[in-house]
Amino acid sequence: MKTTWLALCMAFTSTPLLAADDSVEINAPAPGSVSEEQGLTAWSRVFEVASHPRCANCHTGESDRPMWSGPSYGKARPHGMNIRAGASRMGVETVACQTCHSTSEHAQDTAHAAPRVGMAWRLAPPEAHWFNRSSVEICEQLRDPATNGDRTVQQLAEHLNHDLILHWAWHPGPGREPAPYSLLEHINDLLAWGAAGTPCPTK
Ligand code: HEC
Ligand code: HEC
Repeated sequence: MKTTWLALCMAFTSTPLLAADDSVEINAPAPGSVSEEQGLTAWSRVFEVASHPRCANCHTGESDRPMWSGPSYGKARPHGMNIRAGASRMGVETVACQTCHSTSEHAQDTAHAAPRVGMAWRLAPPEAHWFNRSSVEICEQLRDPATNGDRTVQQLAEHLNHDLILHWAWHPGPGREPAPYSLLEHINDLLAWGAAGTPCPTK
């Protein structure tokens, strides 16, 4: 669906819960049209997003414990109430994430309420480990199909565009800091990094 960025911003301010139609229009730059230096600059912004609490709190790796971190939580600590995601990454073995992170259509207007995004809330796969990880580590994980869900960079961008959890990260409701930049800028940075040949910083 074709949506202008302005219409998208208006949709965000007027509707509390996002629809799949709120996806932005993306166009990858031609391969080779982005220099390695520009690609590395784009990557540094992608890393700022990936390591932000709104993303990293769910990308906790081998640990099946979601994190509560970022200024709104004070000290970084594992999710309260001893929540474990289990092998299902959805908590079905103990208490399902959706018990609290429901998919209902209610507005997210209460600080400290469990985030709700209109789709199943769950922990990211273990190989997508970002919490407390370096730029080099996340970069190498994300460019390798063996650890990124078998996706090209274009497919990663499409995935971000249609995943409602991602849309939430930039509109997380009161009391939470949104991820930096915007979903559109993040997708463009990812695509620029891809067009530059997915360069990773050296340690
Ligand atoms: C509620 C938990 C949650 C949050 C918050 C979250 N993610 Fe994820 N993420 C997931 C899950 C679950 C998957 C696996 C989905 C799949 O592969 O279809 C995933 C997969 C991904 C992938 C696919 C690549 C890979 O390595 O598996 C990317 C890219 C990604 N997330 C980016 C982000 C970004 C950027 C943010 C913040 C703006 C974010 N995520 C926030 C749960 C989350
Ligand atoms: C008993 C209710 C409950 C269950 C079950 C639950 N959560 Fe939560 N979760 C919450 C509440 C409440 C918050 C917000 C706390 C706050 O803002 O102080 C939260 C916040 C989070 C956050 C932080 C979001 C952010 O960046 O601000 C993540 C990540 C998270 N939950 C993941 C999960 C996952 C994954 C599961 C299932 C394995 C799960 N939760 C199960 C109640 C729950």
